[in-house]
Amino acid sequence: MKSASITGASQVAFILGHPVSHSLSPAMHNAAFEKLGLPWFYTPLDISLNEVGPVVKMMRSFNVRGANVTVPYKEAVVKYLDSVDPQAQWLGSVNTIYRRGDKLCGTSTDGEGFLRSLGSWRKKLKGSRGLLIGAGGASRAVAGAMAKEGVKGFYIANRSGAKASSLVRTLRKKYHRLDVQAVSIKNAEPLIPYVDWIVQGTSLGLHGEKSPLPLQKARKGTLVVDLIYHRETDFLKQAKRLGLPRMGGLGMLLHQGALSFEYWTGKKAPLAVMARALKTGLKARDH
Ligand code: ATR
Repeated sequence: MKSASITGASQVAFILGHPVSHSLSPAMHNAAFEKLGLPWFYTPLDISLNEVGPVVKMMRSFNVRGANVTVPYKEAVVKYLDSVDPQAQWLGSVNTIYRRGDKLCGTSTDGEGFLRSLGSWRKKLKGSRGLLIGAGGASRAVAGAMAKEGVKGFYIANRSGAKASSLVRTLRKKYHRLDVQAVSIKNAEPLIPYVDWIVQGTSLGLHGEKSPLPLQKARKGTLVVDLIYHRETDFLKQAKRLGLPRMGGLGMLLHQGALSFEYWTGKKAPLAVMARALKTGLKARDH
């Protein structure tokens, strides 16, 4: 939205986090608002932990439609909301705040956004086995989504074994039949021939780091996903060299955003416009 078209009737949505200056979400959502002719704008709020409560209180004012919440406040925001949906409550992570009447509600679109980003691969998940590398926020969302989608089981390999084990316990409590186990990254390589998919959810690769695992042992057709969207990581380059089906994290960013947009507006998100804004934003950042 151009500044000249901001009026007293404008509505606003935020992204709350720290840092947020690098976020591509403002470009994506503002392009979508413009496409649908909505007098709304979306803007980053870089806040500290003790500002989360006051900011949520401020969001109760009439012209605030909602917000996205990003690192590191996805868990901290939960206690300030009037209601949080059961899956988000269970994973302790809210990435979307929206209004229902005078209530502020929380949900997470990360898991469903991830599943939508898989396109036709999603249909193959039921009964499948996988390997998830990472146990941080993004990986937890993927783990919850995979369990909900009915996979048979997966291994979780993380640098901190305690965090992987804690995620395993959380998953087992809710999904009794899910075969989920924590393994060290070092011991994950021999498991690769037995899995149908591998999701890389750590931040390794964000700054050009080497792949956390060699993929040579993967069966033909094993789907390889890296949640990093900023660049083609070493992990994905390896998958490409081996001729494995693969995707980066831009689709997850797009679809979690589209779902948030639909919570706020009640309208279908203009996916193509949002995808274009993300790609343009990424390119501009590279220069
Ligand atoms: P996000 O929200 O992006 O998932 P996060 O919650 O901070 O961010 O999680 C980061 C993930 O990357 C974790 O799995 C982290 O491993 P630890 O739980 O052991 O910290 C992983 N990670 C970050 N830097 C890493 C490194 N140098 N080597 C291996 N794993 C790393």
